[in-house]
Parts: sequence; structure tokens; C-alpha cells
Amino acid sequence: MEEDIRFTLNGKAVTLTADPDRMLLWVLRTDLGLTGTKYGCGEGICGGCTVLVDDKPLRSCVTPLSQVKGKTVTTIEGLAQNGKLHPLQQAFMDHDGLQCGYCTPGMILTAYGLLKGNPKPSYSDIVTGMDQNLCRCGAHKRIIEAIQAAAKEMPGGA
Ligand code: FES
Ligand code: FES
Repeated sequence: MEEDIRFTLNGKAVTLTADPDRMLLWVLRTDLGLTGTKYGCGEGICGGCTVLVDDKPLRSCVTPLSQVKGKTVTTIEGLAQNGKLHPLQQAFMDHDGLQCGYCTPGMILTAYGLLKGNPKPSYSDIVTGMDQNLCRCGAHKRIIEAIQAAAKEMPGGA
């Protein structure tokens, strides 16, 4: 049954009348038009649908809307601030950390969570931290380079 669900999305208060069991991925993409969040596997495996919930990466394809009630959701569309790309977005561009770009929003938001918890990750910390995000194009090496570069620009990890 539908109910009113309130949360903050990319810095703005949102109220939706929706089924709380619907997955956040489809609410974002279909109801709200935020197509930067990608559908890959739909089973919590690939990481393409990753968003931040209260600043932590979460797989929106397996997250029911009820779980974000009263919380803060950030999608890739909300990461840039005041017209300036987030250092991770800039680093992915500077280091060609993508090919087709399909995995990129999930990669960037997963990397955000990684750097928040570990602002100075080693190479192997990054490999391990990003291990559960899949890239079919094989851009992994450049993705790691981009995250290393972003970490230097974000000494506090945010
Ligand atoms: S689409 Fe959500 S993890 Fe693959
Ligand atoms: S850049 Fe194409 S899937 Fe990663």
C-alpha cells in the first residue's frame, strides 16, 4: 500500500506517495528522472546502482524505499557542488577512469565511501575496497589511478 515517504535527495527535501517496498533504484530512475543511477544486475552484485545514504554507499536495486525514510540520499547528480565537480569526478575525467561510463556513477560513489572511511588508502586498500564494483570495459587500472589522485585532493576524505 502506498504511503507518504520523506527523505532528503541531493540536498532537497522530497515527499513521495509510493509503495515503501519499491526499490530505491526505480524510484530514482523512473519517478524522479535521475538516470545517473544505473541498473546492472538488480541483485546487489555489480555496484552500478550505488548511491549514498547518510554518506554511505548503498546498492539501490536492493534497497526498499522504506529504508531511506528520513535519511539523506545522494546520487551522482548531487555530488558536484556550486557547479564544480567533486574531486572524484574530476579525477575520473583526468585519468580516463572510464570507457563506456556505465559503471562510473557507482564507482565514484563507492570510492567516496572508501575515502571517507580511509582517506589515505594504499593501492591494495583501493583494490579491495572497489572489488565488488564491476566494470565490463576493463577500466579498473585507470579507475584505481583516479581514486589515488582524488585521495591526494581530499586529505580529509570528503
Ligand atoms: S544493479 Fe544494483 S548491484 Fe547491480
Ligand atoms: S567503463 Fe564501461 S562498464 Fe566500466
